[in-house]
Amino acid sequence: MTLNAEQRERLIQRALQMRAKAYAPYSRYAVGAALVSGSGAVYAGANVENAAYPLSMCAERAAVFAMVAAGEREVQAIALATENGGSPCGACRQVLSEFGPRALVLVVDGQGEVVLEATLDQLLPHSFGPRDLAKGP
Ligand code: THU
Repeated sequence: MTLNAEQRERLIQRALQMRAKAYAPYSRYAVGAALVSGSGAVYAGANVENAAYPLSMCAERAAVFAMVAAGEREVQAIALATENGGSPCGACRQVLSEFGPRALVLVVDGQGEVVLEATLDQLLPHSFGPRDLAKGP
């Protein structure tokens, strides 16, 4: 998907704002995400950690789940903000791939500088997806 300059900046700003909502008392690594769905709506998420560490949830998946809960099934683009421009984890790449195998991914640092711009199929080549199952979703 191609975002115009204004849409791109708005998405990045929303991801940066979402970092402030992160609940990350254990890692102290705040992550914010904002995605554009098939309808053009924006859904956002932040990472939410737990004292039982493995139960923690990433920002990207929180945003995807908010989108699906709102009745949408397509991710066109996602912006992800961390302090150091860290890349989306493998689990989030897989979950994003279900709803946007060719989605645009923008990774920004704490100042909003784009450190990585790629499509999801570049980040997760040869992925496992609905087509690999005998019955689709
Ligand atoms: N985290 C994300 O929210 N997204 C990623 O793609 C990588 C990691 C979160 C999980 C955990 O709360 C913190 O960053 C440190 O791993």
